[in-house]
Amino acid sequence: VTPTPSAEIGALSPYRLKREDVPVKLNQNESPLDLPSEVKREILGRLGEAPWNRYPEVRAQALRASLAALCGVADDRVLVTNGSNEAILVLAQAYAAGGTVVVAKPSYSMSRPLAVTGGARVVEVPLADGFALDVDAMRAAATEHHAAMILVASPNNPTGNRFPNDAMARLARGFGGLVVVDEAYWGFHPETPLSLLDGASNVAVVRTGSKAFGLAAARVGWIVASAAIVDILDRAALPYNVGLFAQVASEVMTARRDLVAARIVEVLRERERVAAGLRALGVTVYPSEANFLLMELADPRETFLRLVEHGVLVRDVTSYWSLEKCLRVTVGTTEENDRFLAAMRAALEVPA
Ligand SMILES: Cc1ncc(COP(=O)(O)O)c(C=O)c1O
Repeated sequence: VTPTPSAEIGALSPYRLKREDVPVKLNQNESPLDLPSEVKREILGRLGEAPWNRYPEVRAQALRASLAALCGVADDRVLVTNGSNEAILVLAQAYAAGGTVVVAKPSYSMSRPLAVTGGARVVEVPLADGFALDVDAMRAAATEHHAAMILVASPNNPTGNRFPNDAMARLARGFGGLVVVDEAYWGFHPETPLSLLDGASNVAVVRTGSKAFGLAAARVGWIVASAAIVDILDRAALPYNVGLFAQVASEVMTARRDLVAARIVEVLRERERVAAGLRALGVTVYPSEANFLLMELADPRETFLRLVEHGVLVRDVTSYWSLEKCLRVTVGTTEENDRFLAAMRAALEVPA
Protein backbone atom coordinates (compact mmCIF):
# COMPACT_ATOMS: atom_id res chain seq x y z
CA VAL A 1 0.00 0.00 0.00
CA THR A 2 1.08 3.54 -0.70
CA PRO A 3 0.47 5.74 2.32
CA THR A 4 -1.64 8.80 1.60
CA PRO A 5 0.19 12.09 2.06
CA SER A 6 -1.60 15.11 3.42
CA ALA A 7 -3.43 16.71 0.49
CA GLU A 8 -1.68 20.06 0.96
CA ILE A 9 1.82 18.56 0.81
CA GLY A 10 0.89 16.23 -2.06
CA ALA A 11 -0.16 19.28 -4.07
CA LEU A 12 3.23 21.02 -3.68
CA SER A 13 6.07 20.62 -6.19
CA PRO A 14 9.61 19.83 -5.04
CA TYR A 15 11.95 22.83 -5.22
CA ARG A 16 14.03 22.33 -8.37
CA LEU A 17 15.60 24.72 -10.81
CA LYS A 18 15.71 24.35 -14.57
CA ARG A 19 19.25 23.54 -15.76
CA GLU A 20 22.25 23.67 -13.50
CA ASP A 21 24.86 23.01 -16.18
CA VAL A 22 25.38 26.58 -17.40
CA PRO A 23 28.72 28.26 -16.57
CA VAL A 24 27.51 31.77 -15.65
CA LYS A 25 24.93 31.24 -12.95
CA LEU A 26 22.82 34.34 -12.37
CA ASN A 27 19.60 32.62 -11.37
CA GLN A 28 19.55 32.39 -7.56
CA ASN A 29 20.44 35.81 -6.19
CA GLU A 30 23.52 34.42 -4.51
CA SER A 31 26.49 36.66 -3.78
CA PRO A 32 28.83 36.46 -6.78
CA LEU A 33 31.79 36.87 -4.44
CA ASP A 34 33.17 33.84 -2.63
CA LEU A 35 34.78 34.52 0.75
CA PRO A 36 38.45 35.56 0.66
CA SER A 37 40.68 32.54 1.34
CA GLU A 38 42.05 34.17 4.47
CA VAL A 39 38.49 34.24 5.90
CA LYS A 40 37.89 30.65 4.82
CA ARG A 41 41.09 29.64 6.63
CA GLU A 42 39.92 31.32 9.81
CA ILE A 43 36.61 29.44 9.59
CA LEU A 44 38.37 26.14 8.89
CA GLY A 45 40.77 26.74 11.77
CA ARG A 46 37.93 27.29 14.20
CA LEU A 47 36.07 24.26 12.87
CA GLY A 48 39.22 22.17 13.30
CA GLU A 49 39.49 23.08 16.95
CA ALA A 50 35.83 22.46 17.79
CA PRO A 51 34.68 18.99 18.88
CA TRP A 52 32.64 17.30 16.12
CA ASN A 53 31.36 14.48 18.33
CA ARG A 54 29.38 16.93 20.46
CA TYR A 55 26.21 18.78 19.56
CA PRO A 56 26.80 22.44 18.73
CA GLU A 57 25.28 25.20 20.88
CA VAL A 58 21.58 24.43 20.98
CA ARG A 59 20.47 27.94 19.98
CA ALA A 60 23.75 29.09 18.44
CA GLN A 61 24.21 31.40 21.44
CA ALA A 62 27.50 32.96 20.37
CA LEU A 63 26.23 33.65 16.85
CA ARG A 64 22.94 34.88 18.24
CA ALA A 65 24.80 37.44 20.35
CA SER A 66 26.78 38.71 17.35
CA LEU A 67 23.67 38.89 15.13
CA ALA A 68 21.75 40.68 17.90
CA ALA A 69 24.59 43.23 18.14
CA LEU A 70 24.57 43.63 14.35
CA CYS A 71 20.82 44.34 14.47
CA GLY A 72 21.02 46.53 17.58
CA VAL A 73 18.76 44.41 19.78
CA ALA A 74 19.11 42.28 22.93
CA ASP A 75 20.08 38.61 22.47
CA ASP A 76 16.68 37.36 23.59
CA ARG A 77 15.10 39.03 20.56
CA VAL A 78 16.89 36.82 18.03
CA LEU A 79 16.34 33.22 16.93
CA VAL A 80 18.95 31.75 14.58
CA THR A 81 17.66 29.32 11.95
CA ASN A 82 18.81 26.94 9.23
CA GLY A 83 18.52 29.50 6.43
CA SER A 84 15.76 32.08 6.36
CA ASN A 85 13.49 29.47 4.80
CA GLU A 86 13.44 27.71 8.15
CA ALA A 87 12.73 31.05 9.81
CA ILE A 88 9.57 31.49 7.74
CA LEU A 89 8.59 27.86 8.35
CA VAL A 90 8.98 28.17 12.14
CA LEU A 91 7.01 31.43 12.17
CA ALA A 92 4.19 29.76 10.21
CA GLN A 93 4.22 26.71 12.50
CA ALA A 94 4.17 28.77 15.66
CA TYR A 95 1.74 31.49 14.61
CA ALA A 96 -0.35 30.34 11.65
CA ALA A 97 -0.82 26.53 11.74
CA GLY A 98 -4.49 25.85 11.05
CA GLY A 99 -4.99 29.49 10.07
CA THR A 100 -4.44 31.75 7.10
CA VAL A 101 -1.36 33.60 5.85
CA VAL A 102 -1.85 36.58 3.54
CA VAL A 103 1.01 37.05 1.06
CA ALA A 104 1.59 39.50 -1.76
CA LYS A 105 1.92 38.41 -5.39
CA PRO A 106 4.19 38.38 -7.24
CA SER A 107 6.61 37.54 -4.44
CA TYR A 108 9.16 35.02 -3.24
CA SER A 109 8.35 31.60 -4.68
CA MET A 110 8.89 29.80 -1.36
CA SER A 111 6.46 31.97 0.64
CA ARG A 112 3.46 29.84 -0.24
CA PRO A 113 5.04 26.37 0.17
CA LEU A 114 6.65 27.38 3.46
CA ALA A 115 3.35 28.63 4.87
CA VAL A 116 1.58 25.50 3.62
CA THR A 117 4.24 23.20 5.10
CA GLY A 118 3.77 25.14 8.32
CA GLY A 119 0.13 24.07 8.29
CA ALA A 120 -1.45 27.28 7.04
CA ARG A 121 -3.71 28.23 4.15
CA VAL A 122 -2.46 30.97 1.85
CA VAL A 123 -4.36 33.91 0.37
CA GLU A 124 -2.51 35.92 -2.26
CA VAL A 125 -3.15 39.63 -2.80
CA PRO A 126 -1.82 41.33 -5.95
CA LEU A 127 0.65 44.17 -5.64
CA ALA A 128 -0.59 47.53 -6.90
CA ASP A 129 0.87 49.57 -9.79
CA GLY A 130 4.63 49.85 -9.71
CA PHE A 131 4.70 46.70 -7.56
CA ALA A 132 3.62 48.78 -4.55
CA LEU A 133 2.17 47.11 -1.49
CA ASP A 134 -1.63 47.36 -1.56
CA VAL A 135 -2.01 47.87 2.18
CA ASP A 136 -5.79 48.28 2.12
CA ALA A 137 -6.30 45.12 0.04
CA MET A 138 -3.89 43.12 2.22
CA ARG A 139 -5.67 44.27 5.37
CA ALA A 140 -9.09 43.59 3.84
CA ALA A 141 -8.00 40.05 2.93
CA ALA A 142 -6.56 39.55 6.42
CA THR A 143 -9.87 40.63 7.97
CA GLU A 144 -11.99 38.57 5.60
CA HIS A 145 -9.98 35.39 6.23
CA HIS A 146 -9.27 36.06 9.92
CA ALA A 147 -5.60 35.78 8.99
CA ALA A 148 -3.03 34.81 11.59
CA MET A 149 -0.13 36.20 9.58
CA ILE A 150 0.75 38.63 6.82
CA LEU A 151 4.01 37.79 5.06
CA VAL A 152 5.82 40.22 2.77
CA ALA A 153 9.34 40.30 1.35
CA SER A 154 11.01 43.73 1.30
CA PRO A 155 12.94 44.23 -0.90
CA ASN A 156 10.55 42.01 -2.79
CA ASN A 157 11.75 39.10 -4.92
CA PRO A 158 11.49 39.01 -7.95
CA THR A 159 10.38 42.63 -8.44
CA GLY A 160 13.39 44.16 -6.62
CA ASN A 161 11.55 47.08 -5.04
CA ARG A 162 11.27 47.78 -1.32
CA PHE A 163 8.08 48.66 0.53
CA PRO A 164 8.33 51.84 2.61
CA ASN A 165 8.34 51.23 6.35
CA ASP A 166 5.24 53.35 6.84
CA ALA A 167 3.28 51.05 4.49
CA MET A 168 4.38 48.01 6.48
CA ALA A 169 3.62 49.81 9.75
CA ARG A 170 0.08 50.33 8.44
CA LEU A 171 -0.17 46.58 7.80
CA ALA A 172 0.65 45.91 11.44
CA ARG A 173 -1.39 48.66 13.09
CA GLY A 174 -4.57 47.21 14.57
CA PHE A 175 -3.93 43.78 12.97
CA GLY A 176 -4.42 40.99 15.51
CA GLY A 177 -1.91 38.62 13.89
CA LEU A 178 1.79 38.70 13.13
CA VAL A 179 3.33 40.69 10.28
CA VAL A 180 6.47 38.98 8.97
CA VAL A 181 8.85 41.05 6.86
CA ASP A 182 11.34 38.91 4.96
CA GLU A 183 14.38 41.15 4.60
CA ALA A 184 16.58 38.59 2.82
CA TYR A 185 18.26 41.44 0.91
CA TRP A 186 19.31 43.40 4.01
CA GLY A 187 22.34 45.58 3.40
CA PHE A 188 21.50 46.41 -0.22
CA HIS A 189 19.02 49.17 0.65
CA PRO A 190 18.94 52.14 3.00
CA GLU A 191 15.85 51.71 5.18
CA THR A 192 15.68 48.50 7.18
CA PRO A 193 12.34 47.23 8.46
CA LEU A 194 14.08 46.49 11.78
CA SER A 195 13.00 49.95 12.93
CA LEU A 196 9.35 48.79 12.68
CA LEU A 197 10.02 46.63 15.72
CA ASP A 198 10.21 49.73 17.93
CA GLY A 199 6.65 50.76 17.17
CA ALA A 200 4.86 47.43 16.87
CA SER A 201 4.88 44.28 19.01
CA ASN A 202 3.35 42.15 16.23
CA VAL A 203 6.19 42.38 13.69
CA ALA A 204 8.98 39.89 13.03
CA VAL A 205 11.84 40.58 10.61
CA VAL A 206 13.60 37.69 8.87
CA ARG A 207 17.14 37.97 7.53
CA THR A 208 19.51 35.58 5.80
CA GLY A 209 23.23 34.96 5.62
CA SER A 210 22.82 33.81 2.01
CA LYS A 211 23.05 37.22 0.31
CA ALA A 212 24.99 40.04 2.04
CA PHE A 213 27.31 37.64 3.90
CA GLY A 214 27.78 35.47 0.81
CA LEU A 215 27.13 32.35 2.89
CA ALA A 216 24.43 30.54 0.93
CA ALA A 217 26.30 27.25 1.43
CA ALA A 218 26.24 27.62 5.22
CA ARG A 219 22.44 27.92 5.53
CA VAL A 220 21.92 30.58 8.15
CA GLY A 221 18.96 32.86 8.74
CA TRP A 222 17.62 34.67 11.75
CA ILE A 223 14.45 36.22 13.11
CA VAL A 224 14.36 39.51 15.01
CA ALA A 225 11.19 40.12 17.01
CA SER A 226 10.03 40.86 20.54
CA ALA A 227 11.42 38.68 23.33
CA ALA A 228 7.90 37.29 23.82
CA ILE A 229 7.69 36.12 20.19
CA VAL A 230 11.19 34.67 20.26
CA ASP A 231 10.29 32.79 23.43
CA ILE A 232 7.41 31.12 21.54
CA LEU A 233 9.57 30.38 18.49
CA ASP A 234 12.16 28.77 20.76
CA ARG A 235 9.55 26.12 21.54
CA ALA A 236 8.74 25.43 17.88
CA ALA A 237 12.25 25.35 16.37
CA LEU A 238 14.11 22.03 16.45
CA PRO A 239 16.99 21.74 18.90
CA TYR A 240 20.38 22.08 17.19
CA ASN A 241 18.74 23.48 14.06
CA VAL A 242 21.93 25.33 13.09
CA GLY A 243 24.99 23.17 12.40
CA LEU A 244 28.55 23.91 13.49
CA PHE A 245 29.77 25.10 10.06
CA ALA A 246 26.85 27.48 9.75
CA GLN A 247 27.45 28.87 13.24
CA VAL A 248 31.20 29.36 12.86
CA ALA A 249 31.15 30.74 9.30
CA SER A 250 28.41 33.24 10.15
CA GLU A 251 30.14 34.33 13.35
CA VAL A 252 33.31 35.06 11.42
CA MET A 253 31.43 37.07 8.78
CA THR A 254 29.47 38.96 11.43
CA ALA A 255 32.79 40.14 12.86
CA ARG A 256 33.93 41.34 9.39
CA ARG A 257 31.61 44.29 9.00
CA ASP A 258 34.01 46.23 6.76
CA LEU A 259 34.44 43.28 4.43
CA VAL A 260 30.66 42.73 4.23
CA ALA A 261 30.10 46.45 3.54
CA ALA A 262 32.77 46.53 0.82
CA ARG A 263 31.29 43.49 -0.90
CA ILE A 264 27.84 45.13 -0.87
CA VAL A 265 29.27 48.32 -2.41
CA GLU A 266 30.82 46.23 -5.18
CA VAL A 267 27.53 44.49 -5.96
CA LEU A 268 25.62 47.80 -5.95
CA ARG A 269 28.13 49.34 -8.33
CA GLU A 270 27.83 46.38 -10.68
CA ARG A 271 24.03 46.43 -10.38
CA GLU A 272 23.87 49.98 -11.68
CA ARG A 273 26.35 49.16 -14.44
CA VAL A 274 24.30 46.16 -15.57
CA ALA A 275 21.06 48.17 -15.41
CA ALA A 276 22.61 50.89 -17.58
CA GLY A 277 23.98 48.28 -19.99
CA LEU A 278 20.55 46.69 -20.35
CA ARG A 279 18.84 50.03 -20.89
CA ALA A 280 21.40 50.81 -23.60
CA LEU A 281 20.19 47.63 -25.33
CA GLY A 282 16.64 48.96 -25.20
CA VAL A 283 15.54 46.66 -22.38
CA THR A 284 13.10 47.91 -19.72
CA VAL A 285 14.74 47.42 -16.32
CA TYR A 286 12.85 47.96 -13.08
CA PRO A 287 14.49 49.85 -10.23
CA SER A 288 16.10 47.46 -7.72
CA GLU A 289 17.08 47.77 -4.09
CA ALA A 290 18.51 44.25 -3.97
CA ASN A 291 21.26 42.22 -5.68
CA PHE A 292 19.24 41.41 -8.79
CA LEU A 293 17.32 43.11 -11.59
CA LEU A 294 13.91 42.45 -13.10
CA MET A 295 13.74 43.18 -16.82
CA GLU A 296 10.94 43.19 -19.36
CA LEU A 297 11.40 41.72 -22.82
CA ALA A 298 9.39 41.22 -25.99
CA ASP A 299 9.98 37.45 -25.97
CA PRO A 300 11.41 36.49 -22.57
CA ARG A 301 11.33 32.71 -23.07
CA GLU A 302 13.24 32.96 -26.33
CA THR A 303 15.74 35.34 -24.73
CA PHE A 304 16.15 32.92 -21.80
CA LEU A 305 17.02 30.06 -24.16
CA ARG A 306 19.41 32.19 -26.20
CA LEU A 307 21.19 33.27 -23.01
CA VAL A 308 21.59 29.61 -22.06
CA GLU A 309 23.13 28.96 -25.49
CA HIS A 310 25.63 31.71 -24.64
CA GLY A 311 26.41 30.09 -21.30
CA VAL A 312 24.38 32.41 -19.07
CA LEU A 313 21.58 31.24 -16.79
CA VAL A 314 19.04 33.76 -15.52
CA ARG A 315 15.68 33.15 -13.82
CA ASP A 316 12.61 32.71 -15.95
CA VAL A 317 9.85 34.38 -13.95
CA THR A 318 7.27 34.41 -16.75
CA SER A 319 4.98 32.12 -14.74
CA TYR A 320 4.71 34.64 -11.88
CA TRP A 321 1.55 36.70 -11.64
CA SER A 322 1.81 39.77 -13.95
CA LEU A 323 5.42 39.00 -14.97
CA GLU A 324 4.66 37.18 -18.25
CA LYS A 325 7.21 39.37 -20.04
CA CYS A 326 9.96 39.25 -17.42
CA LEU A 327 13.28 37.62 -16.61
CA ARG A 328 15.27 38.15 -13.42
CA VAL A 329 19.04 38.38 -13.40
CA THR A 330 21.32 38.26 -10.37
CA VAL A 331 24.20 40.74 -10.27
CA GLY A 332 27.38 38.74 -10.87
CA THR A 333 31.08 39.52 -10.84
CA THR A 334 32.35 42.12 -13.32
CA GLU A 335 33.37 39.33 -15.72
CA GLU A 336 30.05 37.52 -15.38
CA ASN A 337 28.13 40.74 -15.95
CA ASP A 338 30.20 41.54 -19.05
CA ARG A 339 29.44 38.09 -20.34
CA PHE A 340 25.75 38.51 -19.53
CA LEU A 341 25.54 41.87 -21.32
CA ALA A 342 27.34 40.48 -24.36
CA ALA A 343 24.97 37.48 -24.36
CA MET A 344 21.99 39.84 -24.13
CA ARG A 345 23.28 41.86 -27.06
CA ALA A 346 23.60 38.66 -29.09
CA ALA A 347 20.25 37.27 -27.91
CA LEU A 348 18.42 40.46 -28.83
CA GLU A 349 20.43 40.82 -32.04
CA VAL A 350 21.43 44.40 -31.22
CA PRO A 351 24.29 45.44 -33.53
CA ALA A 352 27.52 46.29 -31.68
C1 LIG B 1 12.83 36.92 -0.33
C2 LIG B 1 13.72 35.76 -0.03
N1 LIG B 1 13.66 35.14 1.16
C3 LIG B 1 14.45 34.10 1.47
C4 LIG B 1 15.36 33.61 0.55
C5 LIG B 1 16.17 32.37 0.84
O1 LIG B 1 17.00 32.50 1.85
P1 LIG B 1 17.77 31.32 2.58
O2 LIG B 1 18.90 30.94 1.72
O3 LIG B 1 18.18 31.99 3.84
O4 LIG B 1 16.81 30.20 2.89
C6 LIG B 1 15.47 34.20 -0.69
C7 LIG B 1 16.45 33.67 -1.66
O5 LIG B 1 16.43 33.91 -2.82
C8 LIG B 1 14.63 35.30 -0.99
O6 LIG B 1 14.68 35.90 -2.18
